[in-house]
Formats: sequence, structure tokens, C-alpha cells
Amino acid sequence: MELSSDPNLIVGLKKADDAAVYRLADDLAIVQTVDFITPIVDDPYSFGMIAAANSLSDVYAMGGKPVTAMNIVCFPGDTLDIAVLKKILAGALAKLDEAGVALVGGHSVKDEEIKFGLSVTGVVHPQKIITKSDARVGDKLLLTKPLGTGILNTALKAGLLDDETLLKLTQQMVTLNNKASEIMVSLGAHACTDVSGFGLIGHACEMAENSGVALEINSKKVPYIGGVDRWAGMGLLPAGMYANREFRQDMLELAGKVTSWLLDILFDPQTSGGLLISAPPEVADEMLTELKRAGHSEAAIVGTVVKRPQSKIILL
Ligand code: CO
Ligand code: CO
Ligand code: CO
Repeated sequence: MELSSDPNLIVGLKKADDAAVYRLADDLAIVQTVDFITPIVDDPYSFGMIAAANSLSDVYAMGGKPVTAMNIVCFPGDTLDIAVLKKILAGALAKLDEAGVALVGGHSVKDEEIKFGLSVTGVVHPQKIITKSDARVGDKLLLTKPLGTGILNTALKAGLLDDETLLKLTQQMVTLNNKASEIMVSLGAHACTDVSGFGLIGHACEMAENSGVALEINSKKVPYIGGVDRWAGMGLLPAGMYANREFRQDMLELAGKVTSWLLDILFDPQTSGGLLISAPPEVADEMLTELKRAGHSEAAIVGTVVKRPQSKIILL
């Protein structure tokens, strides 16, 4: 397959990032992404909110501002009440309103399994794009949301999750990354990616590889949703966690003692996860304070960018 070499394509498939960026004018580029998922909670309105927050996240991870969105719907109209779909769409619309994004269209197909998401277009100044390729030695690493959504969804599917934890899980997943993105842009972050399907370590690996650095992560500083440790300790783990660990094991250097359940959490696939930000050390504390003030109460500084061993993740 030959990829086009359009000079206005700033971020495309050649060095894949969270979203594509295309220059329209010297001071304006569009950011484009698409994402859709199968239901991960039973309540359709919550699912719509989660899917929307998840789809918007890749634009925020690039430092962009989403402006328009289109629905992508797969729905079994013959067997399921259309009221369910209406609730999913209402949930998504509530999140789009919160984000200041206009819903401008969409497309639906009949399918046996529900799937929902958005194609999102955002804007950014071409010189202000934040990719995963510019983490610099000495930077501090910040994580804006606690981990564990994959493990808790596995517990939920097994009918084991208590209502209180389900509420915490849902709250994490419906939380937009908009404020975190604004904060990191305004304070001059060097690099960013959102933590999604590959888990914290998987996405950290991409940042390390693309930036030509190593990331030192202090496993004890990484926040996770309360209760996740219990389920992980019991071995209640999503299939995606094993795939993530298998895929990236070679890039890991264990420099400290990390218990196996904590390692599992670090590889847990996230839905609508937080941002992993690489920021100059002199702004890291202020960024953390701002993130907490914006409602990211569990945000934390989880590590440091170091020079060697290149492309590796050093776990303390
Ligand atoms: Co992403
Ligand atoms: Co994505
Ligand atoms: Co159509």
C-alpha cells in the first residue's frame, strides 16, 4: 500500500499518533479521528456518554479542540427497542454539549451487536500540535486518570461489581480529557498520548519509541481505581491485558520489585482513559495542581524521561 506524501499532512499513518493532523492554512490544521466500541456498561445513556468521551479523547491528546462529530451506529433494530438507541444517542449528545462540539451527522447499519462511537474533527494551530514524539530527557510524566477500567469491566461482566465501584468506574470513563488537554497545552507540555487499549505501559512504549528516549515509571505512584487491586489479585483480568503484556514484555526493564497484580494493572486496557503527559520538570508541579483543581483529583506525577536504554520502559 502506497501512502500519499501530501506536504500538508503533518501527522498521518507513516508515524501514527493519536489522531491525524492536516494543515489547511499556515495558522490552521484539522485533527481527525474515529473510534467506536461495544457496550461496556448496561445503562445505555451511560454507554453513550462513555463512547463519546472515548472518541473525543484522541483530539484532546493532540492538543486540539474538537469542533464537529458524526455518529457511527450499529444497532439490532429488529430485536432491540429503538428507545435503547435513543438513550445511547442522548448520552453522547450530553457529552458533546459539554465539550462544545456540534453533532453534524452520522451513519447507522443494522448489526447483531450494538456498536457506537464518533468520527471527530478538531482544530489546532499547526505549530502547537502535541504528539507522542517529543518527550525530552528530564521531563516529568503525568497521568491524569486512575487505571483499571478493563479489570473492572471484566468484574462487571462477571456480575461481581458492587454499585459503588460501578459508579466510580462510570464517572472515570465519562470524564472528558478537555480540561487536562487545555492545562497541558497552556503550560507547555512536550508530548502526550491518551491511555487506551494498550494500557499504560503499551502507550508509554509508543511515546518512548517515537521520542527516542526511555521512560522511568514509578509503579507505586501510578493511580488506580479503588478495588482494582482486589480483582487483579484474584486474577480477574481481561484478555486484552494478556495480549498487551505479551506484546510489550521485551520493552520492560524491572528495576524494582513490582507485584504481579500491579504489573497487570499497568497493562490493563483502558476505555476513555486519561492523558499521559510529558512535561518540562519546572512546570510539572504546577500542572499537577491545575489538574487537581480541574477535578482530576487522582492525577499524579508517575515518572521521568531518561536517555537510556532507548525505547525501553524502566519500572521502579
Ligand atoms: Co489515542
Ligand atoms: Co483511538
Ligand atoms: Co449514510
